[in-house]
Amino acid sequence: MIPQQVAQTIIDPKAYAAEKPVDDAFTWLRREMPLSVAQPEGFDPFWVVTRHRDILEVERQNDLFHNGDRSTVVTTRTSDEKVRAMMGGSPHLVRSLVQMDNPDHGYYRRLTQPYFLPQNIRKLEPRIREIARSFVDRMAERGGACDFARDIAFLYPLHVIMEILGVPEVDEPTMLRLTQELFGSADSDMSRGVSASEEDGLAAIMATVADFVAYFNKMTEDRRAHPRDDVASVIANGTVNGQPLGQLEAMSYYIIVATAGHDTTSNTTAGALWALAEHPEQFARLKKDIPGQLPLFIEESIRWVTPVKHFMRTATADATVAGQKIARGEWLMLCYPSGNRDEEVFDDPFAFKVDRTPNKQIAFGYGAHVCLGQHLARMEMRILWEELLPRLQGVELAGEPKRTEAAFVCGPKSVPIRYRMA
Ligand code: HEM
Repeated sequence: MIPQQVAQTIIDPKAYAAEKPVDDAFTWLRREMPLSVAQPEGFDPFWVVTRHRDILEVERQNDLFHNGDRSTVVTTRTSDEKVRAMMGGSPHLVRSLVQMDNPDHGYYRRLTQPYFLPQNIRKLEPRIREIARSFVDRMAERGGACDFARDIAFLYPLHVIMEILGVPEVDEPTMLRLTQELFGSADSDMSRGVSASEEDGLAAIMATVADFVAYFNKMTEDRRAHPRDDVASVIANGTVNGQPLGQLEAMSYYIIVATAGHDTTSNTTAGALWALAEHPEQFARLKKDIPGQLPLFIEESIRWVTPVKHFMRTATADATVAGQKIARGEWLMLCYPSGNRDEEVFDDPFAFKVDRTPNKQIAFGYGAHVCLGQHLARMEMRILWEELLPRLQGVELAGEPKRTEAAFVCGPKSVPIRYRMA
């Protein structure tokens, strides 16, 4: 059994905001107990999967390790019971791709997958470049100082995914607020009121989901009447086995695209600039060969930030992973930040290297559930850096950056910088 202090750290939102306690806990676990059981107070026990190769082994077997059988994020027994009581026995408030298994997962994923493939999203490049340029111009107009997280990194991927989904620009602040409430429910800067207790936290998440549902219900009606070339129209008019999507499934689809589609990319972008500001020698190296090094820099940024901290799986049968016997029904936590610092796979894993190669980062997950938006996320970041880096002459931190307090999706919420632009 994992020592209690370590078990508490890896579920503690504040520890993720501070980062070092979590890095230390995972380093210790990889060395001493790479696949063991944790049981923080108030939680059911779960296996903590910390090694790169073990995470891949679990993710590869998506019929043996299900997403939907128990909560997909680590949750207390009390919250789990409340959700099940409300949702007719289901452990989930929503039913998106993340909570589905085959055959439904395949059916629902095929609905939007073509849209997010490289050959399709390439068409969006000119428009995304326009958006990126407007943000770079905004930075130039700021006259040398801004909060890169709040002023640029949060807003650019938000604008892109909302155009793709079909949400009008006036509603973007609402979408940003709702997403931050959902992912930052443990952070008093982000949540609805201060989530003093876990009960308030769950109530706040439900209120946020209800707001999303009210918004997207209207959108479904509109797109059924007036279909357009956007993802909302695909969801509103899509069919699975000849039937329109169920209400819960359609709402969940909008919500996953509207939330997963920007916060993660924002976190990665903000974290990348933070790293460049802290490591001028890496910035100089990148500046020497911008187009050549961009793909490596982007992979390293994704590894460095790893904004999704975990997803859970549930064993559907007795299984063995890395020599450990896992019983049917047991819960596993896939710890992506740990996999992305695994000494067996990454040379000097705690160093940020713009030209790291090879880089087998697993921040997008792996297997059947691998991130649907990974090509879009990479393309958005490439375009922003292509527009920004040639003009950015120098950058440094102008204050202490801060991360959101969250144990599920977390990254920088404030990165104050000073810079010179051409
Ligand atoms: C740097 C940016 C991003 C990161 C690090 C990230 C990370 C992840 C991770 C770890 C998963 C779970 C994979 C698994 O279970 O194996 C996931 C799933 C998903 N992501 Fe992303 N994501 C990013 C950007 C995006 C974007 C831009 C979209 C926009 C559409 C998106 C949409 C989704 C969806 C819909 C799923 C669920 C896929 C499924 O269960 O089949 N993500 N992402």
